[in-house]
Amino acid sequence: MINIAILGAGYIAGIMARTLAGMIARGDQSICMHSVAARDENRAQRFAQEHGFQKAYGSYEEMLRDPDVHLVYIATPHSFHYEQLLRCLAHGKHVLCEKAFTVNARQAEKVTAVAREKGLFMAEAIWTRYQPARTMIDEIISSGVIGKPQIVTANLAYLIAQKPRIRQPELAGGALLDLGVYALNFASMVLGDNVASVNSIAQMMDTGVDMQESVTITYETGEMAILCAAVTCAGDRRGVIYGTAGTLETDNINNPGTITVIPYKKPEEARIYTVPSQITGYEYEVTCAVDAIQRGLVECEAMPHSETIRILRMMDELRAQWGLVYPCE
Ligand SMILES: NC(=O)c1ccc[n+]([C@@H]2O[C@H](COP(=O)([O-])OP(=O)(O)OC[C@H]3O[C@@H](n4cnc5c(N)ncnc54)[C@H](OP(=O)(O)O)[C@@H]3O)[C@@H](O)[C@H]2O)c1
Repeated sequence: MINIAILGAGYIAGIMARTLAGMIARGDQSICMHSVAARDENRAQRFAQEHGFQKAYGSYEEMLRDPDVHLVYIATPHSFHYEQLLRCLAHGKHVLCEKAFTVNARQAEKVTAVAREKGLFMAEAIWTRYQPARTMIDEIISSGVIGKPQIVTANLAYLIAQKPRIRQPELAGGALLDLGVYALNFASMVLGDNVASVNSIAQMMDTGVDMQESVTITYETGEMAILCAAVTCAGDRRGVIYGTAGTLETDNINNPGTITVIPYKKPEEARIYTVPSQITGYEYEVTCAVDAIQRGLVECEAMPHSETIRILRMMDELRAQWGLVYPCE
């Protein structure tokens, strides 16, 4: 059984806690809700009681010193991930870290080297990589029904510009690391890694971080992805794959619910696929991590280290185009 601990007791930590409880409630015996750590001990206690964790710690280090903790889920703003990943690995813990994994590729390369040297499992908790919708989309494309994918469009936008972790450069805020990362991953899952160029335009907040941007990626083999991310408005979250024989559209690139396939010449044969019902949608990344740990692997096939680093390199390039450097870099 893998004892799971959550580092940080904020918004996404609560969703992960509900996910773990839901997995156990439906009979998953491979995981245990072991502990939670927050900077404030009372808050950690309340979180543990509310969600059913065995232990609560008022310090991250104290939790990491607990030899019974096997896997740590890092649920803090982006600027902290690098140091916290290193602390987890130093204590011999496997680790699943929220997106954006680190603030830049250099940090990800460094922690990856440490995890590999220590033989510890480590992965980015970007849920869309692990969800069944990904396989469903792959299979639909492989069936040939939409032909060869040629253009991908995707947008992710929420009105969250006032959140401190989005506004503040010190927390590595901005739309790209929070939302753009999903659009980049969506394009990458469909069109792969043979990137020829990445071009973009961003508008910045008064704090200096990006608030909305358009990104155009071209591929060596002639495809194109046109992406948009914003923290200034409510987007429709749609992702569309335009193929030579039809289109595939998902209703939400940040947790697909339906996938609509329309053959160009036979629109009457359009089909809507519905993804399996979920606990929260985060259960798949947990299952993947637990499975990898049990098999002695240091990474997940669904989101290998190389892919996390590659996406971060693209985000580095985009930020370089906008002149955006975080204070923690
Ligand atoms: N997968 C998804 O769909 C999804 C959705 C939302 C967010 N996320 C990701 O999850 C991570 C956390 O996001 P969130 O919305 O949960 O963040 P949050 O609620 O604002 O903060 C999470 C925790 O981080 C620590 N923290 C926050 N601000 C801090 C500060 N200024 N200084 C030191 N520690 C601070 C706190 O830990 P303590 O409890 O110890 O005080 C807080 O409880 C990010 O990487 C984000 O991109 C993912």
